[in-house]
Amino acid sequence: MKILVACEESQAVTIELRKLGHEAYSCDIEPCSGGHPEWHIQQDVIPILKEKWDMIVAFPPCTYLTNAGARHLWKNHQLNLERYQKGLEAKEFFMMFYNADCERIGVENPTPSRIYELPEKTQVIQPYQFGHPYTKRTQLWLKGLPNLIPTNEVEPERTQCPSGSYSHKHGEKHRGMFTTDRAKNRSKTFPGIAKAKAMAEQWAGKAK
Ligand SMILES: C[S@@+](CC[C@H](N)C(=O)[O-])C[C@H]1O[C@@H](n2cnc3c(N)ncnc32)[C@H](O)[C@@H]1O
Repeated sequence: MKILVACEESQAVTIELRKLGHEAYSCDIEPCSGGHPEWHIQQDVIPILKEKWDMIVAFPPCTYLTNAGARHLWKNHQLNLERYQKGLEAKEFFMMFYNADCERIGVENPTPSRIYELPEKTQVIQPYQFGHPYTKRTQLWLKGLPNLIPTNEVEPERTQCPSGSYSHKHGEKHRGMFTTDRAKNRSKTFPGIAKAKAMAEQWAGKAK
């Protein structure tokens, strides 16, 4: 299949899809960090959404949409209109993927603030269901794709919050995965979720 993985600089899902034989492309305004510039379209994703894709997987920015970000929305019981406007723009961007003209669509984001009235999610997943001992509540909005089935349930040891705060049950010893360039690293897809056993294999399968 010809697959667009939108807003993905890590190429985590793209690489797994390529391993399965698909013609997958990551697209991000940032250069790719996954080591395969030949599969990376570095530009604004909006114009290429109009192309014919068999499947679109999207990881749109969540900064202004999440519950965590929403705490900045209200100051002294007054709505921060500038912040609210940015949230509305983020919603519009999100909806471009959700409403794309494509048979198979998967959009990923943390829990959004209710004020933005995003469509109802299809599924909630956690990294600890896919072999990573972290909690990070992640929602999926799916069209023409099945819910992901957990591949490797492990005991969660630590929280990775979209707001950037960390909750360590076990202190410093579990630090390390996201200690540098934190905002960017926090938003990267967990390899176990991207991997052959999850998004790539369960949604795309082996190319025919
Ligand atoms: C929440 S991060 C997702 C990261 C992704 N999970 C990964 O593993 O690379 C959102 C990404 O959207 C990208 N982005 C924002 N606006 C974009 C646009 N108009 N076109 C393409 N990419 C965009 C950002 O550069 C950022 O890398």
